[in-house]
Amino acid sequence: MLTLNLSTLKPADVQNYLQHTIAPRPICFASTIDTDGHVNLSPYSFFNLFSSNPPIVVFSPARRVRDNSTKHTLQNVLEVPEVVINIVDYDMVQQMSLSSCDYDKYTNEFQKAGFTEEKSTLVRPPMVKESKIKLECKVNQVIPLGTEGGAGNLVIAEILMMHIDESVLNADNKIDQTKLDLVARLGANWYARVNANNLFEVPKPNLNLGIGFDALPTSIKNSAILCGNDLGMLANVSEMPFVDPTFHDDTLKNIIQYFSINPDDMEKELHHYAKKLLEKNQVDAAWQVLLASA
Ligand SMILES: Cc1cc2nc3c(=O)[nH]c(=O)nc-3n(C[C@H](O)[C@H](O)[C@H](O)COP(=O)(O)O)c2cc1C
Repeated sequence: MLTLNLSTLKPADVQNYLQHTIAPRPICFASTIDTDGHVNLSPYSFFNLFSSNPPIVVFSPARRVRDNSTKHTLQNVLEVPEVVINIVDYDMVQQMSLSSCDYDKYTNEFQKAGFTEEKSTLVRPPMVKESKIKLECKVNQVIPLGTEGGAGNLVIAEILMMHIDESVLNADNKIDQTKLDLVARLGANWYARVNANNLFEVPKPNLNLGIGFDALPTSIKNSAILCGNDLGMLANVSEMPFVDPTFHDDTLKNIIQYFSINPDDMEKELHHYAKKLLEKNQVDAAWQVLLASA
């Protein structure tokens, strides 16, 4: 185990370790404007949602580690406290990356990176037409986190207006997560693409408490076959299941018949079978299989 005391590392190394670790991060593609009307467009992955009422997002244009200079985005929001946050999908990722070059303050990255300006409804900075979701925001507060290179500046922005392309909506006008094809930033040059191929769901009952690991029978909790994810699903039921006499399963019947003379092997087989059922999200059936040996 490598143990690091961050205060002994160079800022660039701290940044490297943390950017690989705190990942993947969503990307705030920020459009801002200065008092003379110069538009800026730059990506920020130190970004997240922190409140829905009021709807608040925070992103952080940091002081450059190399020379302690500040980003034009920061300078702009201090002059005109407004920002449009454009959500980045896979089709935009290369152009978004191009826009992050250190162009001078009077270069409009919309033009450099080939994006189209679209007039916002409530704020002065333009939106990125190609983006499927745009958030018009007012900047409530900017909090500097330090004065040295690498120090972040929290831009606390309140979302006033949201524009969502119909192509990512379902029939109820809600966002279909599988249609968005979002990208996220990790360490170094790594990005993640989030679409139907790699999304998965973890059902969580909102009202009921899971029984918890401590309530699992010892033979299940100490299983050499069931892993943490399997036990997490089993411990998420709201009450300890009982043997259900109406439960019929041919595989279970075969395992019990075949291994009846060897209880240890039977338990292993039952755990393997329960694991397969859990992979298919069949938690109730998995419990019935496990109760046959517990
Ligand atoms: C995907 C991506 C994410 C980035 N995230 C950040 C960030 O969170 N904070 C930061 O200071 N710079 C970040 N950068 C670098 C800035 O985008 C870059 O310094 C840009 O030139 C700043 O432009 P500006 O000075 O016009 O505002 C990121 C770059 C990329 C490509």
